[in-house]
Amino acid sequence: MIKMATHWILTMLKFVILLSAVACALGGTVPEGLLPQLDGRIVGGTATTISSVPWQISLQRNGGHSCGGSIYSTKVVVTAAHCLQSVSASVLQVRAGSTYWNSGGVVSRVAAFRNHEGYNPNTMVNDIAVISLSSPLEFGSTIKAISLASSNPENGAAASVSGWGTLYYGSSTLPSQLQLVELNIVSQKNCASSAYGYGNSVTDSMICAYSADKDACQGDSGGPLVSGGVLVGVVSWGYGCAYPNYPGVYADVADLHSWVESAADSF
Ligand code: ARG
Repeated sequence: MIKMATHWILTMLKFVILLSAVACALGGTVPEGLLPQLDGRIVGGTATTISSVPWQISLQRNGGHSCGGSIYSTKVVVTAAHCLQSVSASVLQVRAGSTYWNSGGVVSRVAAFRNHEGYNPNTMVNDIAVISLSSPLEFGSTIKAISLASSNPENGAAASVSGWGTLYYGSSTLPSQLQLVELNIVSQKNCASSAYGYGNSVTDSMICAYSADKDACQGDSGGPLVSGGVLVGVVSWGYGCAYPNYPGVYADVADLHSWVESAADSF
C-alpha cells in the first residue's frame, strides 16, 4: 500500500515536472487548478542591474522573452536545450547588455544553435545548448563573458541565479527588470537524497540550489547559476518554484563544460 502510494506520488511528480518543462518551453505556465498553488516568492529575489551580472542575456522568440542564457564568448551564448525545442533560428534573437528584457542594450539575431545530443526531455538529462550569434557582441561593463566551472562547488557554497522569470509559481507576468537571488549549492548526491523530495529524478548531469522561499522560476530557464565567479549551472527544472524541500535543478556545467567548448568551436 505504502509502496503503491509512493509509486503514485513519483509518477505524478514526473508528470508535473514534464508539464512544467513543456510549459517553460512554450514560454507559458502550467494551467491553474492542475497543480497546487502554494505561495512562493526569481522568487524571493531583488531587482538588479545588468552590470552586476553582465553575462546574462534574454533569449527571445518572435520578440518576446522566452529564456535566459549566459555569454560564453563574443559570438556564443549558453542556454538550456529545453529552450530550443521545435524552434527555428530565424524567430530567435538575443538581447545583451540590458537590465530590461524588452528595451536597451543590443539585439543580435541567431545564426544557428546546437542542443546537447544526449538531451532527453523526459528525464531532463544534459539540458544544455549553445547559440551562435549573427553579430558579435562588443564587450564592456554591461556585456562580458563568464568562465565555465570545471569542478563543482561544495555542497552549501554560496551561489546566485538571475533572470526575468516569474516572481512566483503560476504567475503569467514577467518582470521587465532583471532579478537576482542568493542561494546555496546542493550537490547532486544531496539533492537526490531523502533530504529533499526528488529522489532519483536528479541525475548525474544535474546540480541543485536551494534557500527557503527563494528559487528560479518559469522564464529563468537557460540562465546562469553562478558560484565563485564561474558558471556552475544552467536553469533547467523544478517542482513549482520555491516549494519547501524542492530545490531548483540546474544542468551541471562542470560535468558538461567539455561539450560546451567543443560545440562552441563547431560553429
Ligand atoms: N523550466 C523553467 C523555464 O523554462 C525553469 C524552471 C525552474 N524552476 C525552478 N523551480 N527552479 O523557465
